[in-house]
Amino acid sequence: MRLTSPISNTFSTAHPSSSSSFLSSAKLAVRFHRSLSDPAVPSRSSSQVRGRGDELPFLRDLREKNKHVRHSTFALDWTKLPAPATLLTALLCLLVLLAQLFLLPRLAPLFRQPPLPQPSCPAPANNPFVQELYCRAPVHRPGTLYGQSQASMALAEAAERVAAEFEYPKEDVNRGVQHFIKQMNEGLGKEGATLSQIPTYVTAVPNGTEKGLYMAVDLGGTNFRVCSIQLHGNSTFSLTQSKVKIPQQLMVAKTSHELFAFLAKQIETFLKTHHGEHYMSHVERRQSYIGGEHNADIFQLGFTFSFPVQQSGINKGTLIRWTKGFDIHDTIGKDVCALLQKEIDALGLPVRVAALVNDTVGTLMARSYTSPGKTGTLLGAIFGTGTNGAYVEKLDRVTKLKKMGHAAGDIDNSTGEMIVNTEWGSFDNEMRVLPDTPYDHALDKESNNPGIQMFEKRVSGMFLGEILRRALVQLIKDPAVPLFSDEHSNQNDMHSTTNILDNSNLWAQWGLDTSFLSITSGDNSAGLKVTRQTLDNDYGVSAASAEDAEAVRLIASAIGKRAARLSAVAIAAVVISTHKLDHPGDIATTGRKNATSAEVSEDDVVDIGVDGSLVEFYPNFEEYIREALREIPQIGVRGERRIRIGIAKDGSGVGAALIALVADKGSRGECTSCWWQRWRGAGVAFWAMADSRVCLSRCECFAGCRYGDRWILCPFYAGLEPESQGKGVEYLMGCFA
Ligand code: GLC
Repeated sequence: MRLTSPISNTFSTAHPSSSSSFLSSAKLAVRFHRSLSDPAVPSRSSSQVRGRGDELPFLRDLREKNKHVRHSTFALDWTKLPAPATLLTALLCLLVLLAQLFLLPRLAPLFRQPPLPQPSCPAPANNPFVQELYCRAPVHRPGTLYGQSQASMALAEAAERVAAEFEYPKEDVNRGVQHFIKQMNEGLGKEGATLSQIPTYVTAVPNGTEKGLYMAVDLGGTNFRVCSIQLHGNSTFSLTQSKVKIPQQLMVAKTSHELFAFLAKQIETFLKTHHGEHYMSHVERRQSYIGGEHNADIFQLGFTFSFPVQQSGINKGTLIRWTKGFDIHDTIGKDVCALLQKEIDALGLPVRVAALVNDTVGTLMARSYTSPGKTGTLLGAIFGTGTNGAYVEKLDRVTKLKKMGHAAGDIDNSTGEMIVNTEWGSFDNEMRVLPDTPYDHALDKESNNPGIQMFEKRVSGMFLGEILRRALVQLIKDPAVPLFSDEHSNQNDMHSTTNILDNSNLWAQWGLDTSFLSITSGDNSAGLKVTRQTLDNDYGVSAASAEDAEAVRLIASAIGKRAARLSAVAIAAVVISTHKLDHPGDIATTGRKNATSAEVSEDDVVDIGVDGSLVEFYPNFEEYIREALREIPQIGVRGERRIRIGIAKDGSGVGAALIALVADKGSRGECTSCWWQRWRGAGVAFWAMADSRVCLSRCECFAGCRYGDRWILCPFYAGLEPESQGKGVEYLMGCFA
């Protein structure tokens, strides 16, 4: 048998005789390769290489061999064939090879794990607001989303319907901003406006160089914090703090004394624990000194009191109304600093309440102290138990100051600015533009201050849990909606019947904590297990199904998203009304118009300090704020990029310390900064300054109190050198006159 097919050629090249020539060719190739760089081998041009007469030996060799093979015939020599066993093995190998090539690809899918579905953006929602909530949810695992049963679909539909009630569209955001700006202006012009716009008498923000050891206390809502803060003067600080929950009965106590005595007691415990030596040396001095205290011992304390206060001096202000669940009638109209000082003195503590600070002002100060770069912070905002913002306003826009009886000379106008506490929680109490669902409505009606803090009731942590609770209870009670109510345990992936305990917190007003919204909105556990566990452990809902949890998550996310978009309204209104984006760098006629870079120069940054559990822990809160900011034409994509939002952690404590420092400046004989304060209460004016104009001549800071026509040095300035006592104050008076 003769084979003369081209295949035989293939066999022949693999023939042992030819393989040796292949090896020698390879060797030649190596030699040839070396010749390109070897100077001993004469180099050839490419035309020389192509020339037949000059053919390389290995090519010639190859050509000759091929010629020979092509024209030879291949005779099969049966005696040289491999043994049958070898042939059989080869055949088997061939079969295996063929099977691998053709059969396995077809069989593989049968054994492969089915791919996980791509569940993040399921189709059911026909409302873009709701759809986005699905899309934004952490990736789901199989079994999380609703099934195809009738009950499942009814639950999905009900959850989506309720979620859609919290939609707060672009048009409403913009209407909200316009109304907010209007109410801001009204508040600057008159007292008693919806937006209180309270002047704080703080006319400058720190720059990070301030130094000293100060104390601060913070009565904000749920907790009372006591801290001491060491300002290092390089934008950093060290903080020691203790925190205690305010007992519920004290929040609604009969007398102010009950609450404030409790606060003073916490200060005493803190001093003994963390500043024991200082405290003891004070006690010893008190016992050995005749005629009062040594002022170097006294801690200057900033009192962060996060409720609406009509401030009349840096450490003087009367409570306008309680918010956030507090209700002690006796305190309204009283000076809260005096109330605290009285209880501190009763315990004989070395502490002077030097400054009264709203938490938003503290946040603004703290952020300004710590924020990167030189840009002063525009706004300090709280999105926590309550919500509020304080911002830097042009002094001449706070026109009500004059109406309030402040002569122009009474207020430091060296910076031309003043921090204003907006008390934006009460924005649109009239409900002209705020969204309103049946749950918001019922919450307000049954709160202890109906018709008040309407913005706060839609935005802050004190209320979001309660909104969700009301929405869930309505669904639970609706027989057409199978929330937490599987009829047969086999409908539930827990294989157990869902049950809500009679004493579940879900049935109690304020029973659902807002932290639950953060937990469920950010739940990325398989089958929303974390949500279901929390429902079980904290809310007495046993064996909730994945579908129940999905419904809860969807509604919670909708409430959180609305809160964030409302927050954007307040932020945008402050940014727009202060014209902070009208910086030349942003004007369309400048070269920056076409800038595409995501980087914003430091000069163009509008800095905002924020604090509070919502902004810190609620998933996507800042992102939702930013999304809404971009939808506001006066801000847009470029404006939003220039807005820098930074957490001012522990802002209220540090901020209070910074303001206490202002009030205290000079008492420790150092010029801490070039900003100063003065303010006037009923018949008494108090001045404190560390103004560079004075500090230039002698690095001292002065303070004095005027009682009628008589000026005396403030007690804590007793450390000044003798000639400045009395004279110094008059000199300053002359300076300000
Ligand atoms: C409430 C208070 C306000 C405070 C805010 C945040 O709105 O009225 O003064 O700043 O809560 O704590």
